[in-house]
Amino acid sequence: ASLADVDAPAPTRHRVADRHAAVPPSAPGAFTNTPDSDPAVPEHRATVREVLVRVPTSDLGTAGIAAARIEDATTLDEVLQDARRAGAAWGARPAAERAAVLDRAADVLESRRADLLEVMASEAGKTVDQGDPEVSEAVDFAHWYAELARGLDHVDGARFVPDALTLVTPPWNFPVAIPAGSTLAALAAGSAVVLKPAGPAERCGAVLADALWEAGVPRDVLRLVQVDEGTLGRDLVAHRAVDRVVLTGAYETAELFRRFRPDLPLLAETSGKNAIVVTPSADLDLAVRDVVASAFGHAGQKCSAASLVVLVGSVATSRRFRSQLLDAVSSLVVGLPQVARAQVGPLIEPASGKLLTGLTELEPGQRWALAPRRLDDAGRLWTPGVVTGVRRGSRTHRTEYFGPVLGVMTAATLDEAIDLVNDVDYGLTSGLHSLDADEVGVWLDRVEAGNLYVNRGTTGAVVRRQPFGGWKRSAVGPGAKAGGPSYLLGLGSWTSAPATT
Ligand code: SER
Repeated sequence: ASLADVDAPAPTRHRVADRHAAVPPSAPGAFTNTPDSDPAVPEHRATVREVLVRVPTSDLGTAGIAAARIEDATTLDEVLQDARRAGAAWGARPAAERAAVLDRAADVLESRRADLLEVMASEAGKTVDQGDPEVSEAVDFAHWYAELARGLDHVDGARFVPDALTLVTPPWNFPVAIPAGSTLAALAAGSAVVLKPAGPAERCGAVLADALWEAGVPRDVLRLVQVDEGTLGRDLVAHRAVDRVVLTGAYETAELFRRFRPDLPLLAETSGKNAIVVTPSADLDLAVRDVVASAFGHAGQKCSAASLVVLVGSVATSRRFRSQLLDAVSSLVVGLPQVARAQVGPLIEPASGKLLTGLTELEPGQRWALAPRRLDDAGRLWTPGVVTGVRRGSRTHRTEYFGPVLGVMTAATLDEAIDLVNDVDYGLTSGLHSLDADEVGVWLDRVEAGNLYVNRGTTGAVVRRQPFGGWKRSAVGPGAKAGGPSYLLGLGSWTSAPATT
């Protein structure tokens, strides 16, 4: 029997860790904003309405962090022009001074780890084991971009001219690490930043901004803003005061931004449809572990997630691999992040559209090895699904579902497996499990993705060691890789240094 043709066993071992808590205490985005009545909030221009984003503090209290809610185009213009002016002054400071602020930011972020974990859990459904490395990644970004900034002042014959104003529009799925990385990079390069957190993750953005202000980033250099995307989103993205937009999100969002402003300088990390190939030479125990973690960490809501596994030759018919994989997947504890043992948390929004289709509908030739089951009324908690018999060119082969569904494909040879992996529009991450050096060489030569991982999962790129970014429709813009040596160079331009006298 092969994974492609055996009957699906009934999933028996999923545990809903806490049925009473199956409905989240607050809907995503239901954070509390109160009007600007708190005397602790600094006075700003009367035209900018300050709102308080209530966030936890490490001593179990809450604090209000001021964000600017912008409701009309005139105010938006004023905020962006102000930030642009502040950026020019920030960029004129020696890079070493900016770097020192970033190093302090690393310490402040570390000191606020508990708050960050709390807001990531409550807003983005992140379990502690998913959120904790995210804080570490933010800390790593701060130190690494500080180091890169120090190098900017020491290039003979050329001078780096940073953008004056960068708009950062991060996603909700890495609501700390990604806005931290984008914001810290722009600040390190010498640009002011307008940070507009993703709607469901505004509290995460607020704690992050607060930490950076505490570290010494001037408040006019880093602005935390909220806008209604439906009414002011286009004005924000297309505004001429914005020198560059750093976007992490769907490919379609990058396309939309380009329609708003065709000449928009955009640095975008976009979608993925990523696979792990397992060959007969692989350490199968390791392969199972990495496939499961890459497919179902944060319920599959990662651009870097592996949503396909391609089994080569005898692995496709290996009973051992099949039973270990399904056993491991069906053993995952599904639950809200507040539940200590939860391993697969909730979807940030109830499954709908292509994800709901992927969770509920089979295509010709497909079978559920593990059928996903909905565990709550809202449709946010799902047991992970494994679908076999996925055919080349099918929806499951080529669509990014962004949720807890793993498609299993089979290939007679490694070459055929690589063809399957490459036959998608995206090229973000890709994995190979093989202990054969020749196979690794062939795969490295041929596979079309930005981040290639051998005998490791496809998520959790380590700053500096694994610069992160994609090919094909997984990147829009110059393609600079986050956490890599050249990322800051994508946030400005070079000019001849003035002759010294
Ligand atoms: N950098 C993340 C990862 O590697 C994705 O944004 O998983």
